[in-house]
Amino acid sequence: MSKKPFYITTPIYYPSDRLHIGHAYCTTIADSIARYKRLAGFDVLFLTGSDEHGQKIQRKAEENHTTPQAYVDNIVASFKNLWEKLDISNDDFIRTTERRHQELVQAVFQKIYDQGDIYKAEYEGWYCTPCETFWLERQLVDGKCPDCGRPVEILKEESYFFRMSKYQDRLLQFIEENPDFIQPTSRRNEMINFIKGGLEDLCVSRTTFDWGIPVPFDTKHVVYVWFDALTNYITAAGYLNDREKFAKYWPADIHLVGKEIVRFHSIIWPVILMALGVELPKKVYGHGWLVVEGDKMSKSKGNVIDPIALIDEFGADAIRYYLLREITLGLDGNFSREALINRINADLANDLGNLLHRSLSMIGRFNDGVVEAPGEPSAIDQELIELARTTAARYEQDMEHQDINIALKELWALVGRTNKYIDETGPWALAKDPAKKGRLHTVLYNLAEVLRIVAILISPFMPQTSPKIWRQLGLKADFAGVSLHDAQAWGRLPVGTVVAKPEPIFPRIEEKPAAVPAAQTTAAPAQPPEAAATSSLPEITIDEFAKIDLRVVKVLAAEKVKKADKLLLLTVDLGTEQRTIISGIAKHYEPEQLIGQNVVMVVNLKPAKIRGIESRGMVLAASCDDKLRLVTADMPPGSKVK
Ligand code: MSP
Repeated sequence: MSKKPFYITTPIYYPSDRLHIGHAYCTTIADSIARYKRLAGFDVLFLTGSDEHGQKIQRKAEENHTTPQAYVDNIVASFKNLWEKLDISNDDFIRTTERRHQELVQAVFQKIYDQGDIYKAEYEGWYCTPCETFWLERQLVDGKCPDCGRPVEILKEESYFFRMSKYQDRLLQFIEENPDFIQPTSRRNEMINFIKGGLEDLCVSRTTFDWGIPVPFDTKHVVYVWFDALTNYITAAGYLNDREKFAKYWPADIHLVGKEIVRFHSIIWPVILMALGVELPKKVYGHGWLVVEGDKMSKSKGNVIDPIALIDEFGADAIRYYLLREITLGLDGNFSREALINRINADLANDLGNLLHRSLSMIGRFNDGVVEAPGEPSAIDQELIELARTTAARYEQDMEHQDINIALKELWALVGRTNKYIDETGPWALAKDPAKKGRLHTVLYNLAEVLRIVAILISPFMPQTSPKIWRQLGLKADFAGVSLHDAQAWGRLPVGTVVAKPEPIFPRIEEKPAAVPAAQTTAAPAQPPEAAATSSLPEITIDEFAKIDLRVVKVLAAEKVKKADKLLLLTVDLGTEQRTIISGIAKHYEPEQLIGQNVVMVVNLKPAKIRGIESRGMVLAASCDDKLRLVTADMPPGSKVK
């Protein structure tokens, strides 16, 4: 059976400057939807590109003492490099300076002219060059562009006009009959009001500069840049050139665009298509803007974030995850370095990284790396299996509605539940009792199986991480061939799979806002009356006590020390650094139990060499008879204990 087609586009970006993180945000969303659709079995055409004509580009080239073509060639190369580094899986990249596009724009312009929907007249009005947009006097705000707030220029030239007004009623009717056409609904309402205000005929040619596609029958004129740009979506789909391709992919399923250009896509573009007698796209989705620490990015403010630098520092998957998880599609979102690092540490290194590490190391230690057949599921297993099933089903619903951050949130709820499942089932205890071998096998199978499902479901968002998890799980099937269906069916992990030694998928980022030391108290804390009586040690002063630097630390890794049955080697995070310490708690804890726990440690204890390993600190534990429990604190690493 042939696959169902799915066509998704990003806006084509102006190569007037290099792209910033806001542009990367838009393309990452489109990429995750395209990858999800491929996973769901669709034949996807995912298009991005560059919008290279217009007055703004021509001026930029002049400022840089070069030709417009040389100027855009250079910047477009940087776009392509960015998309490669961000793992963007576009099937095509369209440049509006390409011949295939120029010829198509001319053919379309000619056709609409021939049928009488384009006519020549005198234009007099306002133009915003940065936005390449015409405005009526009454639309200006304080005499400036209502979109970007920059000054507009008066234009008086003979131009060609497109009879938009003729299509006003048909367009309104289409929007009203197709509630999904403009999303989210707030944008739809805005557009309906705009159209009801009356559509003016649009000036679709310019004569004051020449960096554009010549009007075929009057080469003094170049085609208005938005008319040229919007047409890219049908050029790439094969309109007039590749009948079969066009029949397959058109109408586009989603034009994903920023909120400020929804108007061009849901008014001008549909009218061009109506004039051509071509079906309208199914959906125009207007996403929100990424702001930096609450502020719009701009060169003059010096707050423009370069996505390449971020990818080099944190890796593409971490940036992609952050953008998709942190921001609700359709709303504006904030970019902050601190929030990015928190997400990487909490969600990726901790939740997902620990689940993988703990699960694989237990399968390694207790089962020689082999995932054995599970037995009859108990109630707690059933609950986990059910959650995995409903998560995979809900994920599909969420992704079909472009609720990307909700899909991710639900996936992480599954990861969190599975980490808890480890604590509740305690495989380390099961491993000690030969009678519980069957139970151990069930628990370990379930862990590996959840990881298999998670690896598949995160692949649209983190395309590098998924195959890494897949490989560590020891799965033989080619990851490129997996489908959404494989994640929706429980139990597809082959019994007998041999897992690899776990390797960290996301290292923790150690740069954090310095842990704020709690203010030192000067007054002696109130002592419970019996405190002195229970201690056999001599009294100390508060100053003596203050010499001990106690901090909350997070256990990142734990393993047994070879040939020392009482000792564990712990790697802990102090918020500002990592340390290794040796702790005599191996009789009371299995290593996997400790990972992810926040415990209290003396951090200024003189280092000591134990079994040849330098131990730099001591974790605190409470003990009574032969019971021992570490002192834990639900506080971030680095917090001072006093
Ligand atoms: N060339 C036109 C689009 C033509 S599509 C037929 C254009 N280009 S642009 O480079 O200025 O913007 C491209 C996209 O980037 C827009 O969708 C815009 O919303 C998006 N973004 C620009 N800055 C952004 C943020 N700070 N945050 C999110 N998206 C942002 O418009």
